Amino acid sequence: MDLKNKKVLLCVTGSIACYKSVDLYRKLKKEGADVKVILSRAAGEFISPYIFESFGEEAFYDDAFKNPLSHISLSKFADVILIAPATYNTINKFAAGIADTLITLVVAASPEKPKILVPAMNPNMFANKILKNNLNKLSEYNFYAVSPETGNAACGDFGEGRFPEIEDVIFEVESVFSEKKLKGKKVLITAGATREYMDPVRFISNGSSGKMGISLANEAVKQGADVVLIALNIDRASFYINKKVKIINRISFMDFKEALKDEFKKSDILFMSAAVSDYGFKEKSSEKIKKSRTTVAADAGDKKSTVFKAELVQNEDLLKSLSTLRKKGQVIFGFAAETNYLIENGRKKIAEKSLDFIFVNDVSKDVIGSDENEGFLMDNNGGIIKFERQPKKKLARLLILNLH
Ligand SMILES: Cc1cc2nc3c(=O)[nH]c(=O)nc-3n(C[C@H](O)[C@H](O)[C@H](O)COP(=O)(O)O)c2cc1C
Repeated sequence: MDLKNKKVLLCVTGSIACYKSVDLYRKLKKEGADVKVILSRAAGEFISPYIFESFGEEAFYDDAFKNPLSHISLSKFADVILIAPATYNTINKFAAGIADTLITLVVAASPEKPKILVPAMNPNMFANKILKNNLNKLSEYNFYAVSPETGNAACGDFGEGRFPEIEDVIFEVESVFSEKKLKGKKVLITAGATREYMDPVRFISNGSSGKMGISLANEAVKQGADVVLIALNIDRASFYINKKVKIINRISFMDFKEALKDEFKKSDILFMSAAVSDYGFKEKSSEKIKKSRTTVAADAGDKKSTVFKAELVQNEDLLKSLSTLRKKGQVIFGFAAETNYLIENGRKKIAEKSLDFIFVNDVSKDVIGSDENEGFLMDNNGGIIKFERQPKKKLARLLILNLH
C-alpha cells in the first residue's frame, strides 16, 4: 500500500526532535500523500512553518482564533492524524480531553479518525507512569503509538524516548489503511537462501536475496498478523524489516529444517519463500580443505584439467513433509522458481506437495535479487492469477489479499 491520495494531517509538537518532522513530511509526499501541517507554538520555537511552506504546503500555526473553524475543516480534511513528534505535554492533554490548542482541538473534533502518536522525549519523561497510563488509555480511542528508539537523548541521558526511524513512522501510517486481512493470525515466513558448507569457508547457495519474503513479512504485520520470519543469510542492513517481525536467523538446510518444523506447529499460515538448497555435501570437513588433497587430474578432451570432486546428497523436500504434519485449517503457500512451463510446473507442485497456494516466479525474467517480481498465483482449486512485473512490496500485498 502506498499513500497515494491519502490525506495526512501532520501535527508537529514542541520536542527537540521537531526537525525530523521535515524529513517525515518529505517522505510522506514522496509516497503520494496529500499533507497539511500544524505546528504547535512550542514547535514554532524549534522550526519555522516556512520550511513546510517552501515545499508548497500550507502550514498552520497553532492559533485557533486566527482562522476560526480551522480545527473543524482540518479534522474533515484528514484521513489520518499523525502527531510527530508528540510531546509529553500534548499526549497527556489528549488523554485528559483538553482542547486548548489547534492540535488538541482538531483531535477533539476527530474521535473516529485514526491518530498516530510518535512520542519523542527524554527517557525519564517517557518512563513516567503518567505518560505510560495515558498511552494505554489512548489506545482505546483510535490512537496508535509508534515505539520510540532506545539511545542517547539530546541531554545525554540514555534510554527509550528517541524519535524512531522515518520508515517506522511511514509503516504505521500505511498500516492504518490496510485491510487487516490477517488479523489474529500467526504467520510464518521463510526468506533468503540456505548455505550448504563443504568446509568452514566454502559453501553452495543461490542468489535469492530474501526480498520477497521480507516484503511478505512487512505486509503481514500491516495486515494485523503476528509474524515470525526465518531469515536465511539475509543482508539485514540492506532491507527494512519492521520491528514487529520476530526474526529467527538460520544458515544451513539442517538448522533451518529444525526451526521450520518447530515454528510451523505454532502458525496458521506458512509462506515458504526461502530458496532452500535441494542438495547438501555428503561430507563436511571441519578443517579448510587443501587444494592438493582434493583435486584430481582428469582428461577433458585434449587438455588435462584439474577437477574437484565432491558428492552431494539430496535434501528432504520440506514442503512435502510439512504438508503431512499440517493441522486442520493450516494454510501452506509455496513458491517456485521456474524458467518455463510455469503453469504446468505450478500445478504439479501443488499436487505433489499438497499446497494450498503457490506463486510461480518467472525466473527467466531476471527477478532473483531484484526489487520486482512477476509470475502466477495458483490455488489448489485450479485458480490462476497472472501478476505483471511490479515491486515485490506491492505484489506481497496482492498475494495476501488474494488468500481465500
Ligand atoms: C529545549 C527544549 C527541548 C524540549 N524537548 C522536548 C522533547 O523532546 N519532548 C517533549 O515531550 N517535550 C520537550 N520539551 C518541552 C515542551 O516543549 C513543552 O512541554 C511544551 O509546552 C510543549 O508544547 P506542545 O505540546 O504544545 O508542543 C522541550 C522544551 C525545551 C525548552
